[in-house]
Amino acid sequence: FPAVRQDKPEPGRNSFLLRCRQVNHIPRRFRLHLFPLAFMPSISFLNHLGALLTLWLLLCCGAPAAENGRILMVTEATFPPYEFRDGNTILGIDPEIMREVARRTGRELVIEDMSFDSVITAVVSGKADAAASGITVTPERRRKVDFSIPYVEAAQVIIVPKGSPIRKREDIRGKRIGVQHGATGDIYVTRNIQQPERFPNGALAVAAVAAGKVDAAVIDQDPAKMYVAGNERLEILPEPLTSESYAIAVRKGDTVLL
Ligand code: ARG
Repeated sequence: FPAVRQDKPEPGRNSFLLRCRQVNHIPRRFRLHLFPLAFMPSISFLNHLGALLTLWLLLCCGAPAAENGRILMVTEATFPPYEFRDGNTILGIDPEIMREVARRTGRELVIEDMSFDSVITAVVSGKADAAASGITVTPERRRKVDFSIPYVEAAQVIIVPKGSPIRKREDIRGKRIGVQHGATGDIYVTRNIQQPERFPNGALAVAAVAAGKVDAAVIDQDPAKMYVAGNERLEILPEPLTSESYAIAVRKGDTVLL
């Protein structure tokens, strides 16, 4: 627009003041129309603001591990109904929740399956953005990651072969107990009973009970129900060992995902 063109740029002068001064040279009848232009920030100011905003977003919100536009979720997918595989697809409650988070934040969800004892480390190291894996909130884990609000009340239960002499928690002392490595069942048995036999996932711990390789397995209640539903020679003891809640883990300070 010729009327506001800056013919002789004066370095160091605030562009707003410069514009106001130039408006004085514009014929009166045009001034009213041009008045709003005086309040428009200069292009270079907008560029700086943009750069500052980007920097602020990166610093305050934590750069997403995956490129922008993606949420990389990590999980261990042998944990029905929370996560399980159907061929190459990972289905379940956790992927469903994260799909909705991705939809609401306008990003694409990418899911990676890994061992359960690596999911929190993956978030801490920045490899992943969120661990959604039926994760129980514990004080130790809280020190490493931030947790979403809890979405399930859960418990550890004991699975035994039907008719086993093990009827309650005291009976497993001195027996061979299978757990999932790094899971809260592992933590509970190690702290309160004895060294358990650790398996890469709960399904293998339950398979070991069915095969008579261990006397009992201690795993989460909901997957336990699903596993036992598929094997009529196993049963779950009625009294739960713990009371826990599941939440989704994100990097500390990642308020956008939280
Ligand atoms: N809730 C237990 C824990 O946090 C076990 C979770 C196992 N999750 C899984 N997807 N395999 O330790």
